[in-house]
Amino acid sequence: MRVLLASALALCGTAFAASSASVDAYVATESPIAKAGLLANIGPNGAKSAGAKAGVVIASPSTVNPNYLYTWVRDSSLVFKVIIDQFTSGQDKSLLGQIQNFVAAEKTLQQVSNPSGTVTTGGLGEPKFNIDLTAFTDSWGRPQRDGPALRSTALIAYANWLRANTSTANVVQTLWPTIKLDLDYVVASWNSTGFDLWEEVSSSSFFTTAVQHRSLREGAALASALGQDGSAYTTQANNALCFLQSYWNPTGGYITANTGGSRSGKDANTALASIHTFDPAAGCDAATFQPCSDKALSSLKVYVDSFRSIYAINQGIASNAAVATGRYPEDVYFGGNPWYLTTAVVAEQLYDALIVWKSQASLQVTSISLPFFRQFLSSVAVGTYASATSTFTTLTAAIKTFADDTLAIHAKYTPANGALAEQFNRATGAPLSAADLTWSYAAALTAFSARAGVSPASWGANGLVCKPPPTVSVTFNVVATTVFGENIYITGSIGALQNWSPDNALILSPANYPTWSITLTLPASTRFEYKYIRKMNGVLTSWESDPNNSASSPANGTLVLNDTWR
Ligand SMILES: *[C@@H]1O[C@H](CO)[C@@H](O)[C@H](O)[C@H]1NC(C)=O
Ligand SMILES: *[C@@H]1O[C@H](CO)[C@@H](O)[C@H](O)[C@H]1NC(C)=O
Ligand SMILES: *[C@@H]1O[C@H](CO)[C@@H](O)[C@H](O)[C@H]1NC(C)=O
Ligand SMILES: *[C@@H]1O[C@H](CO)[C@@H](O)[C@H](O)[C@H]1NC(C)=O
Ligand SMILES: *[C@@H]1O[C@H](CO)[C@@H](O)[C@H](O)[C@H]1NC(C)=O
Repeated sequence: MRVLLASALALCGTAFAASSASVDAYVATESPIAKAGLLANIGPNGAKSAGAKAGVVIASPSTVNPNYLYTWVRDSSLVFKVIIDQFTSGQDKSLLGQIQNFVAAEKTLQQVSNPSGTVTTGGLGEPKFNIDLTAFTDSWGRPQRDGPALRSTALIAYANWLRANTSTANVVQTLWPTIKLDLDYVVASWNSTGFDLWEEVSSSSFFTTAVQHRSLREGAALASALGQDGSAYTTQANNALCFLQSYWNPTGGYITANTGGSRSGKDANTALASIHTFDPAAGCDAATFQPCSDKALSSLKVYVDSFRSIYAINQGIASNAAVATGRYPEDVYFGGNPWYLTTAVVAEQLYDALIVWKSQASLQVTSISLPFFRQFLSSVAVGTYASATSTFTTLTAAIKTFADDTLAIHAKYTPANGALAEQFNRATGAPLSAADLTWSYAAALTAFSARAGVSPASWGANGLVCKPPPTVSVTFNVVATTVFGENIYITGSIGALQNWSPDNALILSPANYPTWSITLTLPASTRFEYKYIRKMNGVLTSWESDPNNSASSPANGTLVLNDTWR
């Protein structure tokens, strides 16, 4: 435990309320340590990253148990987003050289053929490389599709500054080709499965979809500012936003982290998504799961509560007080422990929420967020509370205290020299796993910045709503004579036609025999191919002969296709 905090915390017993002043002191001492720790892990001159090429972020200097002396696209991009934000806000002008190194290193990495493919065949989904910018070729959880999205978000932040400070032509020439490769990868792959940010579950993942959606929105805006065609980014952003809604679990009151993986789905994944897609201009919008949205707050409570009983260091803490949190409750990596970065994210989401409530001078309690708010004021009811009300004052003060208490836990388990490892032991609180995890430092810095009330730039989340893609009704009629036990089915080239799967082909009705019919809801304005097939007692016996039938659905209205079996 850090000496400064020891006395303040000791006074307060188990459900401690750290004084705001003691957290001020922690932030003041830890900030420069975290910044130095982060820079030490960046080549070529970082004190702990010997061997890393210029602009390469090592995950940690640890080489055994675990060996993290590699560079991950996700971690590097999150780290450089912090650096770019510090530079473009004028906080630290000395970081420009680092940013230029990063741009050059990532441009090189994009072209490195690797087990996920080449730059044109999926190689941008490769999660991890050697620190000399060569491919890592051992088996791994690949692809991971958040990397290109996070990288483009970091580079777009720099591109916006560069455009304002140099010229559009300069950005088109230097940064745009790199950003465009990443965005085009996101367009092509956001609707495919991949490994999650913890590299364990292959499915769709909330964090991945959320950061992909953000990158496409920012990408479309940048494309437009640069006179480039960003229409595909907008089209797919609209689709991704609709898909994002499907992760919400209304019964459990939380965002389910992954569509696969057979776990509860309670996971820091979702709070991380919320802080990394925070847009103060979007208020408490739930469509993009903003930090103060009812869904993100409800989800945060469920996530935090899932660690209360499983970590010994959380024992005896009141059920509405801050605790140490890990990746997800089922975690067994290194025995399953709290992490510094996942504890910091809880505080950061709440500081982000406080920024918005203050700026809009009100907060809203909905039936979804009611359990979250009742932790802080058990009598609170659904409603909107203006900043002049005592309910607003009580809630925001209690939430600020909860966030500070979360940082006090972070402080309590940080060793006296301020070094941040990956994890701390669930029973003893001692640091463990990789030492000096670059992401732990970055996460501390962003939480501290949010606590100081620093608002990130808007990325265009304001007013977004999922508009389901338009559909039309299409009737397929086919004249086909059949024998007893035989039925006619249809399959074809789009999801609504079962992607050419004979097993999942859709059965037609013989009500107007010998005309067989089915009416389906298909996406509007879409060309598709299809065939009818015959099954005898459910077993495929024949396909129609070639060529495939083809048609296009109209923009609106209905379509009737009259075919004859051939
Ligand atoms: C650089 O760009 C920022 C916007 O990102 C702007 O605030 C600043 O004034 C610009 N500086 C110069 C010298 O143009
Ligand atoms: C692709 O998008 C559709 C429509 O939102 C969704 O139903 C499907 O689950 C998505 N699949 C993946 C792998 O993202
Ligand atoms: C019909 O579509 C399938 C699936 O795309 C394709 O494999 C097949 O070659 C097509 N048939 C013809 C004759 O084009
Ligand atoms: C229906 O689609 C046609 C183009 O096929 C378009 O001209 C018309 O405006 C659309 N009507 C509506 C109500 O969207
Ligand atoms: C399709 O057949 C139906 C009767 O089954 C008929 O009413 C309709 O006009 C036909 N449509 C076309 C485009 O031939």
